[in-house]
Amino acid sequence: MLKIVNVVGARPNFMKVAPIHRRMAADPQFKPVLLHTGQHYDARMSHTFFVELEMPEPDLYLGVGSGTHAEQTAAVMVAVEKIFMQERPDWVLVVGDVNSTLAVSLVAAKLHIPVAHVESGLRSGDRTMPEEINRLLTDRISDLFFITEQSGWDHLLEEGTNPEKMHLVGNVMIDSLVEHLDKSRSSTIQQELGVQAHQYALMTLHRPSNVDQPQVLRRILSAVEILQKETPIVFPIHPRTRKMVSQFGLDPLIRSLDRLILAEPLGYLAFLRLMSEARYVITDSGGIQEETTYLNIPCLTLRENTERPITITLGSNRLVPLTVDAMVHYAREALAGRLKRKAIPPLWDGKAGRRVVDVFKKISGC
Ligand code: UD1
Repeated sequence: MLKIVNVVGARPNFMKVAPIHRRMAADPQFKPVLLHTGQHYDARMSHTFFVELEMPEPDLYLGVGSGTHAEQTAAVMVAVEKIFMQERPDWVLVVGDVNSTLAVSLVAAKLHIPVAHVESGLRSGDRTMPEEINRLLTDRISDLFFITEQSGWDHLLEEGTNPEKMHLVGNVMIDSLVEHLDKSRSSTIQQELGVQAHQYALMTLHRPSNVDQPQVLRRILSAVEILQKETPIVFPIHPRTRKMVSQFGLDPLIRSLDRLILAEPLGYLAFLRLMSEARYVITDSGGIQEETTYLNIPCLTLRENTERPITITLGSNRLVPLTVDAMVHYAREALAGRLKRKAIPPLWDGKAGRRVVDVFKKISGC
């Protein structure tokens, strides 16, 4: 029996681990252990997702919470080392690029516990992004690589990774989307927010590069001021962004925009419903670039680069320079129906979790 610790820490991890953990739990050849670092801890950033994704309560909860990068990473490392020394799993599985991903991988590697990294090989080429550091380092010390798109494969090869350990399996986050899309139609979020299907835009912002500098955040809001007059914009606001908006004295500006509809961070089903019926999405998230590509919803990504280039070459995603003119231009392109997807990326078919589990079976001979 394979004892695998599946690790979650922050909001985007839950929908990636859910399909893998469920499949392992249903298979007698696996003994999956669900470990939550507690990097995200607000009910709306964490618990809601467990309920909606029908994930069991975590077997192990570290409760590390927020802090600087060093504090958060170190807190996860100290806590998880004790657990791994007791549990001695056969594998540790981490997903994505958050601080918990790197912290857990580092501890496992030093205890000679093999690490499987789901969503490996993605590279933005931008080392000012904390996630890029987490991606690069996690891949250096991983033993098994699950890849979502061809660029991931290419980067890992360039970096000298053994191709026998690399598996292009598709996108586990899309597994969760495929599984829950129908169910999301029963969400009443549109009535609650007073918007109608296909008559609003949706925005999320949380990246330090967009929200931690007052002049940048102000510029984004200047574009939003223009755009919300044309199409109402729903804005579920991330805790980091809310904090920054207050710190920079931007609350009055935000409240003065009649058709900017503020909301607390939303659950998975409500967000999925809103995203799947939006005219366009403005975001700086990684996952939302992929989800909108699958859904064929125009996506304006407020970043200079993306580690998910397939969302641009095949998908409905565009990188939008941080000028008011550019943001307004691309939003109007979206409204005019000119940002369309060419195709759903290969293997984004709802079966990636199954492929991950099959690889584990094959390599362990069970
Ligand atoms: C983290 C990830 C990012 C991911 C994002 C999704 C890293 C480096 N960043 O960014 O890649 O896209 O999650 O949301 O791991 N906070 C709360 N409640 C919570 C969690 C956070 O209030 O449950 C607030 C705290 O003030 C905290 C701040 O948000 O200091 C930032 O949280 P943190 O986990 O450090 O990073 P995120 O910005 O959420």
